[in-house]
Amino acid sequence: RQEKFQKIYELYDAAQKLYTHILLNTTAGEQALSYLKDDRQLDEETIRQYGLGFVPSNNVLLSYAREHNIDETVMKSAELFIDRDEELVRDRFNNRIVWPIKNDRGQVLGFSGRSLDPDNPAKYMNSPESSFFNKGKLLYNLDQAKGNIRAGQPAMIFEGFMDVISAAMAGVGGAVATMGTALTEEHVASLTKLTDKITLVYDGDAAGQKAAKRSIPLIRSVAPQVEIGVIALADNRDPDEVRRELGLPALKQALDQATQTPTEYLINAAKQDKNLQNQAQYLDFLRDVWPILTDASAVEQDYFLKKISEDYGSSLEALQSEFKDYQAAHP
Ligand code: GTP
Ligand code: MN
Ligand code: MN
Ligand code: MN
Ligand code: MN
Repeated sequence: RQEKFQKIYELYDAAQKLYTHILLNTTAGEQALSYLKDDRQLDEETIRQYGLGFVPSNNVLLSYAREHNIDETVMKSAELFIDRDEELVRDRFNNRIVWPIKNDRGQVLGFSGRSLDPDNPAKYMNSPESSFFNKGKLLYNLDQAKGNIRAGQPAMIFEGFMDVISAAMAGVGGAVATMGTALTEEHVASLTKLTDKITLVYDGDAAGQKAAKRSIPLIRSVAPQVEIGVIALADNRDPDEVRRELGLPALKQALDQATQTPTEYLINAAKQDKNLQNQAQYLDFLRDVWPILTDASAVEQDYFLKKISEDYGSSLEALQSEFKDYQAAHP
């Protein structure tokens, strides 16, 4: 059994090397390589550092495994092939650019593949869940980020692989990503072994905001000692788009200087899409503020009640009294 595991790990490593070789050195990889270089603005050194690859449609890994007499049960358990009637018929990630997904020790445990076809409804596809590949436990890039986080850089959680790579290009050492899945207690636990500073950098769109609103209370409940930061990017961009559209210095600046506390972030989010000069919308904003302040410290409560009073002209006494009423009704 231990030996079978070892064989599966070896197959993952061989797959990663083969797919990277195809991307960088063969005509089959040319189109994918120019996509990564021209459209995604990655250089070869970065492609190598993250072990990106391309899976052509000629089942190169299937042929490799057969030539090397790799055990059929090893091939099936690795989940790198598609089977039909128990027969392995092709490489799973055909026609996709692949990112190897590794555990915190750097062992490849699966892949995520991006389709080159813009009309493909499944833009990304991951290895299926297995005893090796568990999205709820794995954090992309933790192997490279771990040492930096332990040395004092904050852990920064991003949505996607390209966001992590872009952040690393901007000098962020502690970048990791969940893989299209919500942050879990296990993710948080693997970071709190290394640090008590976690910064969330989700996409600046509605989905990213929703993810932040969910992750903040999750981190607070499993790791109350953690100092949480949130970085909100403007104009619906994700970090990778900031790099490519506004430039690396703009991304660097956002990641270095735009960290907000959760309370600040949530109150700013509550202001969004509201005209606070309109009485009904202002009252609606206040209704959103009370639960946010309920989870905040006494100093933050004091600060934001004063700030709202100054910004919008309600008396501090009136705001305090409404907040008290809310708290009394929500013990
Ligand atoms: P790019 O166009 O490559 O920059 O991706 P994106 O920025 O649109 O990715 P998005 O913000 O939508 O999602 C972030 C992460 O979610 C990706 O890195 C994937 O891990 C995951 N994801 C996105 N789309 C899909 C999908 O269609 N299927 C699966 N399984 N995961 C996805
Ligand atoms: Mn998307
Ligand atoms: Mn997104
Ligand atoms: Mn994105
Ligand atoms: Mn993106």
